[in-house]
Amino acid sequence: MRLSKRIDQQETDQNLLNNGNELSIAKTILHHMKESAILFNQKGNILFVNSTTKHEFADYWAQGRNLFQLMDTKSTAWLRSCVNIKKESEYLLKIQRDGKEDLLIEFSFVPLHFQDIFMLILKKGTAFDYAEQETIAHVFDKSVHGLIITNKFHKIVKANRFAEKLFQLHSQQDKDSFDLVKLIDQHVHSINTKRFKQQQGMYRPERLSISVIAFNDGYYEVSRAESIYQDYDLYVIRDVTGIVSILNQVDRNDTLKVVGQLAAGIAHEIRNPMTSLKGFIQLLEAALKNEHSMYFNVITSELQRIESIMTEFLMLAKPKDSKTIRFNLYDIIHDSVELMKPQAVMHDIELNMLSSSENAFIKGDPNRLKQVVINLIKNGIEAIEEKGIIQINIEQHQEQVVVLIRDNGCGISEDKLGKLNEPFYTTKEHGTGLGLPVSFKIIEEHGGYVDVKSTEGEGTEFSLTFPLDAD
Ligand SMILES: Nc1ncnc2c1ncn2[C@@H]1O[C@H](COP(=O)(O)OP(=O)(O)OP(=O)(O)O)[C@@H](O)[C@H]1O
Ligand SMILES: [Mg+2]
Repeated sequence: MRLSKRIDQQETDQNLLNNGNELSIAKTILHHMKESAILFNQKGNILFVNSTTKHEFADYWAQGRNLFQLMDTKSTAWLRSCVNIKKESEYLLKIQRDGKEDLLIEFSFVPLHFQDIFMLILKKGTAFDYAEQETIAHVFDKSVHGLIITNKFHKIVKANRFAEKLFQLHSQQDKDSFDLVKLIDQHVHSINTKRFKQQQGMYRPERLSISVIAFNDGYYEVSRAESIYQDYDLYVIRDVTGIVSILNQVDRNDTLKVVGQLAAGIAHEIRNPMTSLKGFIQLLEAALKNEHSMYFNVITSELQRIESIMTEFLMLAKPKDSKTIRFNLYDIIHDSVELMKPQAVMHDIELNMLSSSENAFIKGDPNRLKQVVINLIKNGIEAIEEKGIIQINIEQHQEQVVVLIRDNGCGISEDKLGKLNEPFYTTKEHGTGLGLPVSFKIIEEHGGYVDVKSTEGEGTEFSLTFPLDAD
């Protein structure tokens, strides 16, 4: 008896399939489904609704009624196109109800691929539910910081717009192959991490790691909150380019200040004995006449060198000049070029100056700016081993004047470019490494800024931009 019942059952199942009675199987499955489901044909006639639909939507979606007539024009158009294309699709329908909150129905269209029968799965929600979800999704996507959620295999589950743009995650494939942990390792920027960690203070969750990376010409703080939910990690990426450059600036200013204070002290101590040394040497020179003139030349030039180092040192200590005048930058550059020409000629270097106008008035201290131009030309001369050219161009823009000083010397490697404003950075046997920091400081004091471009083996270009003085 038992056996025969099992055989009967199997036969019925077989018959169902063989006879193409897939519809019955579908109905049985749908009957047990928690979601509301409707089966309908190409004309929109409802063939079947499951019990959840009856329960949730009473008689509205009932067998025998026509979907195309029950839905508004826009939804009908969507449904008709689904039927034609026979591809899964989703649609959100808003139903306005008198005195009640709007009702939203989420439709999922599923073609069943037999007998031209289609299925609609309906999910009911209030406008509030959806608005909330939409808001959260929107906030995630439009956050001013980058947000990435990864799973336990470190694969990206979700990334917002900022993160997609920064890491160029244009497709799913990009996301699958992206290794954020490796990227952090490769680009980690050590100096300021400690300061960033201190900032977090009391709100720091337990499993939070923070790194600062130098990426794409900027600096980004990447905080990783581990297992923020189950096995998922959240990465928050913050653009800290501005903060890092301010911190670097503070570091640099600290060094300049210390150097300046040192300079003020030392300069006084050294200048006095130097003055007497110079006096005695002049006396000796006169007494010994030509006998040891060669030595005197060496002594005098070395003394001059000490003096010029002291002058540069003092430049760092000197407070921002309060006595500024309006002057023609063109004249200052012209004078500096004339001054440096003999030295350039001596090294077989052509020193040219080109300007669209002979007037470029700015405010500041002409003598200090002369020092800047001389420093830069001197560096250019020293960078050229034999025969070369130093070209100076003055370009006038509406509110700015740009001075370009270009040489075809040895150039500066990319990793060294960042060191140029570090006091005492020099690659020369007798260099002080103060020429550029002092020059940069003077340029800043004139409201200007410097840009350096360089290619090793090809040359270097310093571009100085100053605000023009209108009146
Ligand atoms: N035009 C340039 N071409 C190639 N390297 C340069 C150029 N200008 C500066 N540098 C590099 O930058 C370093 C620092 O320059 P800076 O003028 O501050 O000091 P210095 O020239 O070494 O010493 P000083 O200016 O006291 O003679 C130089 O030693 C050199 O390596
Ligand atoms: Mg120099």
